[in-house]
Order: sequence, then C-alpha cells, then structure tokens
Amino acid sequence: MKQIIIYGSQYGSTQRYAEKLSEQTSIPAVSYNLLPDLSEMKTIIYLGGLYAGGVLGLKKALRFFPVHDEFKLILVTVGLADPKDSENQENIDANLQKQLPEKLLHQTKIFHLRGAIDYKKLNVGHKALMALLYQSVRKTAFEKLTAENRAFIETYGKQADFIDFQTLQPILQEIQKEII
Ligand SMILES: Cc1cc2nc3c(=O)[nH]c(=O)nc-3n(C[C@H](O)[C@H](O)[C@H](O)COP(=O)(O)O)c2cc1C
Repeated sequence: MKQIIIYGSQYGSTQRYAEKLSEQTSIPAVSYNLLPDLSEMKTIIYLGGLYAGGVLGLKKALRFFPVHDEFKLILVTVGLADPKDSENQENIDANLQKQLPEKLLHQTKIFHLRGAIDYKKLNVGHKALMALLYQSVRKTAFEKLTAENRAFIETYGKQADFIDFQTLQPILQEIQKEII
C-alpha cells in the first residue's frame, strides 16, 4: 500500500516534523512543490504550516489527491499557538472545514502541532503583515486575548521554538493503523 508524507513549509519547522516522521516510518517525505503522481496513494500524511488560518500548500496539493474511496488523509497543522488550547483547536478546525471538500473530510484524521518562528528570518511581506497585526491586537487586555493572539504577542519580534518531536506520537500511531 502506498503512502507519502507531503509538507508545506515556508521557514522549515513543518519540514523538520515531516522529516522526523519520515525517519520514524520510512515513508518518503516531499515538499508540496515537488509532488510525484499521487493517484495510487492509499494514505497521504500532509503537514502544513498555518498562515492566517490556511494550511500552506494544501489548496495546491488537493488537486492531485486520489479520488478512490479507500484513500485516507492524515492532516497535520503546524502553528505558533498552543494546540492544547481547546478554543485554538476549534478555530483551526473551523478553518480546515473550509479548506477541505466535504467528502474528503470524512476520510481525514486531523492533528495539530506547535512550530517555531524567527522574526529575523521572515520575508518583508510577512514582517509587514505581522507588524500590522501586532498594532491591532496589542491594545487588547491580555485576559481577553485568544490563545492564538497571546502566543503571537508573547513571541512578536523574537525567536521562539516550540518544536517537540514527542508530539508526533499520536500521528505515528495513526500511521501504524493505516499500515496494518
Ligand atoms: C504571516 C504569518 C501568519 C501566521 N499565521 C498563523 C496562524 O494563523 N496560526 C498560527 O497558529 N500560527 C501562525 N503563524 C505561525 C506559523 O504557523 C509558525 O511559525 C509555523 O511554525 C511556520 O511553519 P514553517 O516554519 O514550516 O513555515 C503565522 C506566521 C506568519 C509568518
């Protein structure tokens, strides 16, 4: 049965998770920019960095996903906000519902991981976007902030790395289920 890990990563944190998963499962990992033929795949493990709620590269990759009924998608988001926060999880999930066709949602298992950011490495557009966002949320009282905005304010302008390979464990278990 054919399986592949695909990642959408702009600054490398999602790629690090994808390559670790690949090492642990021996499933090849490729960037969404370099997709092979996916039509015969039984399982796709797609990891994507979150950018304004969107999963990087997913829209592009979706067009090449298999259409057969046995196909399973394991979708993993990588964002800065804490995925253990239930409100954050609900927000990410609500956004995902809009990014996946309804039929595929029933064939999908979703997981959330925490990534990393280094403001020094952001491109000009992203720096400007984050500066604008910061201006709009920094005046909100801290207790009124969502987990997402809290993480944003706490890390703004800095380098933060929340990557934890232990959090891949439930995803590994899900992949094992698919292999059997
Ligand atoms: C422009 C921009 C928008 C972002 N939007 C979100 C977001 O909506 N939710 C979130 O949790 N993290 C957000 N992040 C943080 C990234 O998801 C996080 O840094 C992730 O680890 C990036 O993955 P990558 O290093 O693989 O590109 C954003 C970062 C940038 C630069």
